[in-house]
Amino acid sequence: MHALVIGATGMLSTATLWMNSHGWQVTSISRTHEKAQKLHALSDFPDRLRTLVLDWNATDTVLENIELAVEQSGPIHKLVLWMHREVAETIPKILCHIDQLNQENWALYHVKGSRASRPGQNWTPLLPKGCRYHDIILGFKQENGISRWLSNREISEGVIQAIQCGHERTIVGQVEPWNQRPS
Ligand SMILES: NC(=O)c1ccc[n+]([C@@H]2O[C@H](COP(=O)([O-])OP(=O)(O)OC[C@H]3O[C@@H](n4cnc5c(N)ncnc54)[C@H](OP(=O)(O)O)[C@@H]3O)[C@@H](O)[C@H]2O)c1
Repeated sequence: MHALVIGATGMLSTATLWMNSHGWQVTSISRTHEKAQKLHALSDFPDRLRTLVLDWNATDTVLENIELAVEQSGPIHKLVLWMHREVAETIPKILCHIDQLNQENWALYHVKGSRASRPGQNWTPLLPKGCRYHDIILGFKQENGISRWLSNREISEGVIQAIQCGHERTIVGQVEPWNQRPS
């Protein structure tokens, strides 16, 4: 089974390594060589982890590299995606490409910031026919009346839970009361 993680070296690194250690061939995309090397060094199964260093603004290069990864490791069954809103128009191109390279249904886990929980502020990309969509909305935590944002580990654990449960929507932490979110 082949998973692609886009934006893998930051808050998703623990989730990326979890998939890698649970039998998945994982391809990761991130931008900085050093961080990609560090992720690779943390893997217990480095032969199953391909760390691609690419800028997601170079859409054609990203698509070409996804195609190469599929040629080498088979179709992508899961895509975990954390891409900034500025490159939103690139996302449908990536989804279409993965779908065209895949004969079977596959799953997208789309990680989003807290605002996606607000009415009218969520955004779902145009989905190709084989793509099953899962939202993962990052919230915050309240402990002893004090609000704080999630740690990277908590975010990755939420992503792992979403992958295990397969629910359409996962809220990591809490998004209410909205006016008590951290500043
Ligand atoms: N509700 C919440 O709790 C919440 C919501 C959102 C964010 N956050 C917090 O905000 C922090 C910072 O967020 P962040 O966006 O910097 O997340 P991050 O997960 O720390 O880093 C973003 C990931 O995307 C990659 N990336 C960024 N620009 C890229 C590009 N042009 N091409 C290819 N890959 C690229 C980065 O690679 P490089 O590092 O190599 O560039 C990295 O792997 C997170 O650590 C998280 O704790 C919290």
